[in-house]
Amino acid sequence: MIGRLNHVAIAVPDLAAAAEQYRGTLGASVGPAQDEPDHGVTVVFIQLPNTKIELLTPLGADSPIRGFLDKNPSGGIHHMCYEVEDILAARDQLQTRGARVLGSGEPKIGAHGKPVLFLHPKDFNGCLIELEQI
Ligand code: CO
Repeated sequence: MIGRLNHVAIAVPDLAAAAEQYRGTLGASVGPAQDEPDHGVTVVFIQLPNTKIELLTPLGADSPIRGFLDKNPSGGIHHMCYEVEDILAARDQLQTRGARVLGSGEPKIGAHGKPVLFLHPKDFNGCLIELEQI
């Protein structure tokens, strides 16, 4: 069901500093910061030859990544995003097999303008999984 790794997301306390580290120190192709108010984050995408890195920092007081950064103040890997062709079929298959979909269970529009869902990390070895319909 899952296809390519779309991105690995890293929660960071200082988005500008992290973006500059990827640009200057690691020599990566770093995009502009984008606010995602529906998701409570500001993101920067870094394009690598085979995948992307998503740097995330909280936007607003009730950001869903605030607690993660409280536990990991210097930042850390927050989620992995896998591509799927049909997100509703993927959701139904996952729920049939007992995996928990976060939130209402209805896809939201993600940072690339495509539908996304998140799967409970306790069902996947401690790793929060994002599915993005391509
Ligand atoms: Co993501």
